[in-house]
Amino acid sequence: MTALTTETRRPPAPTAWIEAGGAPDDAVQAVRGGLTSAGVRLEPNARGRIVVFDPDDPGAAARLTAAAASGRVLALALRDATDGWELLRAGASDVVIWDGTPDVAHLIADRLRRWHAVDELLDCPHVRDFLIGESPAWRAALRDAVEAARFTNSAVLITGESGTGKERLAELIHDLDPRRPKRKLVILDCSTVVPTLSGSEFFGHERGAFTGASTVREGAFELADGGTLFLDEVGELPVTLQAELLRVIQEGTFKRVGSNVWRKSRFRLICATNRDLAAERERGGFRSDFYFRIAGCTLHLPSLRERPEDIAGLFRYFCRQVAPDREPPPLSEPVRDLLLHRDYPGNVRDLRSLALRIIHRHLGSGPITVGDVPEHDRPARPGEDRGGDRRLELYLRDRLAAGSSVDELTAEVRAEAFRLCSADRHGAPNGAGGPGEPEEPHRHRVPEKASLTGAGAAPRG
Ligand SMILES: Nc1ncnc2c1ncn2[C@@H]1O[C@H](COP(=O)(O)OP(=O)(O)OP(=O)(O)O)[C@@H](O)[C@H]1O
Ligand SMILES: [Mg+2]
Repeated sequence: MTALTTETRRPPAPTAWIEAGGAPDDAVQAVRGGLTSAGVRLEPNARGRIVVFDPDDPGAAARLTAAAASGRVLALALRDATDGWELLRAGASDVVIWDGTPDVAHLIADRLRRWHAVDELLDCPHVRDFLIGESPAWRAALRDAVEAARFTNSAVLITGESGTGKERLAELIHDLDPRRPKRKLVILDCSTVVPTLSGSEFFGHERGAFTGASTVREGAFELADGGTLFLDEVGELPVTLQAELLRVIQEGTFKRVGSNVWRKSRFRLICATNRDLAAERERGGFRSDFYFRIAGCTLHLPSLRERPEDIAGLFRYFCRQVAPDREPPPLSEPVRDLLLHRDYPGNVRDLRSLALRIIHRHLGSGPITVGDVPEHDRPARPGEDRGGDRRLELYLRDRLAAGSSVDELTAEVRAEAFRLCSADRHGAPNGAGGPGEPEEPHRHRVPEKASLTGAGAAPRG
């Protein structure tokens, strides 16, 4: 990614528009006066809306929902007799009680300023070109991510199905992090950590610490000092290893293997998983203390099913990646239909592979037509059932295309099947089997990028 250019300029004056449906005129006038004195500019085309309402007004929630369709809405209650949760559910982004004091007017001005800063980042070309999506579900997730990246230093847990963009989002969060100087992003894929070498992987080792330790090695936490540590597939981390990481995540202190010297590292932690760790924690398959340390802020990325509006835009984006100098070819109606209604078990990764397969077959400058779609990607004939097998086939094809070997895929499928059986039998995820159960084989994800393979954390500049 190129350096982010929308750096901290002097924040512009906060702007908003007041919608006063139902509230008494004199109260709305008082709000207008108070906000203007706090420096808020009231403009009809401002993105932020303030809906002033009387808590007794039964139409307030409906008005909020309508206003939220065209931007962010602050619900301003004229008295403290309101169910804030219900207003948030109705679409408000924040709820404030108006008491007429300058303090509350300044609080609203600050809130509007923050919204403006986040929206400006969300709309900057840098962010728009890095993570594609315009659907409300995607924009809402990205808005939370931008806010967490820019305005907090919390540990971030990114969840979402496979291929929804978790790793890419981690890169964006690192990039938007305003720390200066800021060092690199270090990526460690927890599914590839061998338990016996985990100490060295995470904390590094001294020369001679164990047989084969011929040189000093910096571990992931040390490498990430001044930057970001991305623990990918954190749900695969065995419970015993989770316990070993508690101190370094909480205090930033650790010892290299073979050393008695405490070292310090300051890093932002980002973790990602496609598992439901909150549920696993409740069932006892994931440590609570570890969970609460890594989940300072949780971001959930929607699947492609939840944002079909983004499919065409993503397809064009992948066309541009292949041929940056050409306008992406238009899609004929049947191809557009296929793209919209197909299953994407691997989400954006799946769509990307399909787009590449189609683009490589397409010739000339005309639209993409049915003949450009490879045979195995075409829709099933009516009555032909290619459901489950078809999904597995597409998944395996994509993984093979990404360089995974048959042995690796076989091991992965076997381990996943084992985990599911174990969970079904015990109502608990892997590692929680009863006495006498065979030990769960460690799931080995084949990382997407060559730089992540093999032993060790992979630094990114
Ligand atoms: N919104 C997006 N815009 C552009 N490209 C995207 C987007 N989301 C994902 N991608 C691309 O899709 C592929 C998969 O994304 P990524 O590796 O970030 O997913 P993931 O959620 O980490 O997947 P997994 O759970 O399998 O590790 C990558 O090639 C990534 O660049
Ligand atoms: Mg990933």
